[in-house]
Amino acid sequence: MHEYPFRWPSPVDQPAEWAGLHEEPLVPVRLPSGDTALLITRYDDVRAVLADHRVSKNRNRKGAARMTENKQKIFQTPVAMHGPEHTRVRRLIGKTFTAKRVEALRPRIAGIVEELLDDLARAPQPVDLNATFSFPLTIRVICELLGVPAQEREHFGDTSAPPWEYMRGLIERRRREPGDDLISDLIGVHDAEDGRLSTEELVWWCTLLLLAGYETTANQLSGSVVLLLHQPGEPERLRTDPELVPAAVEELLRCQVVGSSLSMLRVVTEDIEVGGCPVPAGTSVIPALDAANFDPAAFGCPASFDVDRAPRRTQLTFSTGQHFCLGAPLARVQLQEAIGRLVRRFPNLRLAVLTPQLQRAEDIFFPAFTAVPMFL
Ligand code: HEM
Repeated sequence: MHEYPFRWPSPVDQPAEWAGLHEEPLVPVRLPSGDTALLITRYDDVRAVLADHRVSKNRNRKGAARMTENKQKIFQTPVAMHGPEHTRVRRLIGKTFTAKRVEALRPRIAGIVEELLDDLARAPQPVDLNATFSFPLTIRVICELLGVPAQEREHFGDTSAPPWEYMRGLIERRRREPGDDLISDLIGVHDAEDGRLSTEELVWWCTLLLLAGYETTANQLSGSVVLLLHQPGEPERLRTDPELVPAAVEELLRCQVVGSSLSMLRVVTEDIEVGGCPVPAGTSVIPALDAANFDPAAFGCPASFDVDRAPRRTQLTFSTGQHFCLGAPLARVQLQEAIGRLVRRFPNLRLAVLTPQLQRAEDIFFPAFTAVPMFL
């Protein structure tokens, strides 16, 4: 039986296990906890399972597989993260955290990117892309969106003060003095039945927005730059034809080199079928976003990086269905502005170490690069 997550053989090559994996719709895997689950490998099946209400993200169900031996506790959440309550909250948040709102932020995001590119140009080389560009960008963007004042930004990285305590205080301040920010708008949001977000829901979801997105986006950005620099001629194409940048970002997300799908673990609540095979209630499954993105039936020659893929099917790195990444539009705008502007400003951008020397974090959820030293 395969161990999951699979190991990355090199910083830019995909795990060997993916080749041939799609011949079977369901592949048993052993998780770091020692528990077993079925990996759902094919693009169409992954989409169908993520849209199926008989497959739940409730990880506390009796008999459900655990990701790691001790991770279960961390996933005990103070508000419902599945079922109708979760759907209600998602609908309310979606009223104000819209793709339109994010698109309106694009010029501001572009401005922050340009400031950080100036910082990069002034920094002694080699310069670490993570520390000098990717993380400062995504932290500033999420803080500005939520209205976290600049002088208070260290609070949420400070483990001595739990981030939700800080968030509770910020929400109280915004109740008294609303600002032009997402938290103020979320406090006021309500639906036709005049449903509102409770204080507990506000605290939990605002903290989630603050913490769920900046690290993933920063790691995806640095990982994307590494992968792009390994595609002969591609940075040059993006420089001369900026309109290709959004398609390149989608292809970089498809080939994403920083995450695993371990946290996609679900449990089946009623008997279902996947790829013609019966899956009884109680089975733990992983709709594997990474495997789906490499399904040859969905993406011809999946191992090759191809910005011009046609017809273009949506990559699944942001998932789909009820839990579809709430920050996907924001992540896309940041990746597009950052990657497009970075390659245009620094035509000689290159890694300052040999690729095999890049280190991945010892993290089964996000084995991202710990540092990405570059020459400009
Ligand atoms: C490249 C960057 C990102 C990637 C690859 C990513 C990926 C994901 C994935 C795979 C999920 C889980 C979906 C599921 O279980 O079906 C998720 C959920 C989520 N993401 Fe993202 N994300 C990114 C950026 C962001 C950003 C920027 C934000 C916030 C502004 C964010 C906020 C969230 C939230 C709140 C959820 C929970 C949604 C729910 O359970 O309903 N993410 N993301």
